[in-house]
Amino acid sequence: MEIFLFDWANLLLRWLHVIVAVAWIGASFYFVFLDLSLVSPKGDNPDKVAGELWAIHGGGFYHARKFIGAPPYIGGHLHWFYWESYFTWITGFLLLSVSYLWNPSSYLIDPSVAALTEGQAVVIVIAMLLGFMLVYELICRFAAKPGKGDGLVAVLVAVAVVAAAAIATELFSGRAAFLITGAMMATVMSSNVLFWIIPGQKKMVAQLQAGEALDPLPGIIGKQRSVHNTYFTLPVVFTMLSNHYGFITGHEDRLALLVLIMVGGALIRHFFVQMHGHKLGRHGHPWPYALAGVVLLVAAVVVSAPSAESRAATQPATQPAAIGGGPTPQAGSSPSLETAGALRIQKVMAQHCLQCHGVDLQMKNVRLDSPELLKRHALSVYQQVSVLRAMPMNNVTQMTNEERQLVAAWFKAGAPVDAEF
Ligand code: HEC
Repeated sequence: MEIFLFDWANLLLRWLHVIVAVAWIGASFYFVFLDLSLVSPKGDNPDKVAGELWAIHGGGFYHARKFIGAPPYIGGHLHWFYWESYFTWITGFLLLSVSYLWNPSSYLIDPSVAALTEGQAVVIVIAMLLGFMLVYELICRFAAKPGKGDGLVAVLVAVAVVAAAAIATELFSGRAAFLITGAMMATVMSSNVLFWIIPGQKKMVAQLQAGEALDPLPGIIGKQRSVHNTYFTLPVVFTMLSNHYGFITGHEDRLALLVLIMVGGALIRHFFVQMHGHKLGRHGHPWPYALAGVVLLVAAVVVSAPSAESRAATQPATQPAAIGGGPTPQAGSSPSLETAGALRIQKVMAQHCLQCHGVDLQMKNVRLDSPELLKRHALSVYQQVSVLRAMPMNNVTQMTNEERQLVAAWFKAGAPVDAEF
C-alpha cells in the first residue's frame, strides 16, 4: 500500500513540478529575450522609455516598454512573477523527498560508492543544498560588483558547480549525484528570486509609492541574479532528465560526463542569449557558442562509448568456461550448456532481481519470477544488466561482472529458459 501511494505521490508531484517549471522557465526565457530585443522608441520620449518591443502572437499585436527609472504611472494590475519559481522549488523538494530521502537505500545510497547510513545520507543532501547556496552567495557578495565582475563570477560559480558535482558523485549513487547537483543549482535559482529579485522589486515599488527617486541598485542586482539563473536552466534540466539514462549516470566517468554536458548546456544557452542581441546588431555572432556546446556534447558521447573491453564482455562467450562460476559446460551451445545457463540465470535473477521484480513488487511493471516472464523480458534484461549496467538498481545486491557476462552469454545463446525453475 505504501509503495502504491508513493507511486501516485511521485507521479502527481512530478507532473506538477514539470508544469510549474515550464511556466517559470518559459517566463524567464521570455524576459531575457524581451530585455535583449528592446529597441529605442521612435520620436519624442517624454516618458523616458528605455526601450520597446513590438511582437505579434496568437493573432494580435503587442507593445511592451521598459522605463528608465520610474514609469510615469502604473495602470491597472502590476503583474509579479514568483509563484512559478517557488512552486517549482517546493514540488521539486517534495519529489526529492518521496523519491530519494524517504527511502535513501533504494536510490540515494550506493554502498559501492560510499557506505553511508540512511541518516547520514539525508543530512548530507540537505547540507549540500544549503552549503551550495552559501558558497554561491559568498561568490556573488565578494566577486560581483553592480554591473560588472560577471566574468569572474561566472568562472567561480562554474568551479563551485564542478566541486559540488565531484562531492555528490563521491558520496551518492550515480543517478542521485546528478539529481542533487541539479537540485543545488535549482535551489540557488529559486533563492535568487526569493531573497534578491522579489525583495529588490518590492523596494522599488515602495519607493515609487512614496514618490521617492528609484534607487537603481536593487534593479541591477536583480538583473544580475536573473542572468545567472538563465545560464543554470539548461544544465539543471539535463540533470533532472538524466535519471532515466543509466548509461550516463552509472558510467565510471560520470563526473566528466556531467561536467561536459552541463558546460555544453550553458554554452548553448549563451548561444540563444547572443542570438537575441545579434539580430539587432548588438552582439557578436552566436554560432561559435552553439558549436562549442555541441562539441562538448559530442565529447560526452565519445567519453561514454563502451570500451573495447566492455564490448568484449558482452560478446557471446565462445569459451563458456571463462564466464566463471557454476558447472563447467562444454564449448559450443549444446543443450547441456543451455540448461546449465538457464538454471544459473534463474539463480542470478533470484539473487539480484526478484526483490524488486517478483511477486511482491514489480518495478516499472517488470516481473521476472517465472521462466516465461524472464523469456519475455530477455532483451531488456540483457540491456539493463549487461549493456547499460543500470540494474540491479544502484547495484544494491552487488552483482559481479562475471554475472553480467553470464546474462550476456545467456541472451546471445537465445535466452533459453526451458529448464526447471
Ligand atoms: C532495488 C530494486 C531493484 C532491483 C534489485 C532491480 N531492479 Fe530493475 N528496476 C528497478 C526500478 C526502480 C526500475 C525503474 C527504473 C526507472 O524507471 O528508471 C527498474 C527497471 C527495470 C527494467 C525496465 C527498464 C526500462 O527502463 O524499461 C528492467 C528490464 C529491469 N529493471 C531489470 C532488472 C534486472 C534484470 C534486475 C536484476 C539483475 C533488476 N532489475 C534489479 C528496481 C530494481
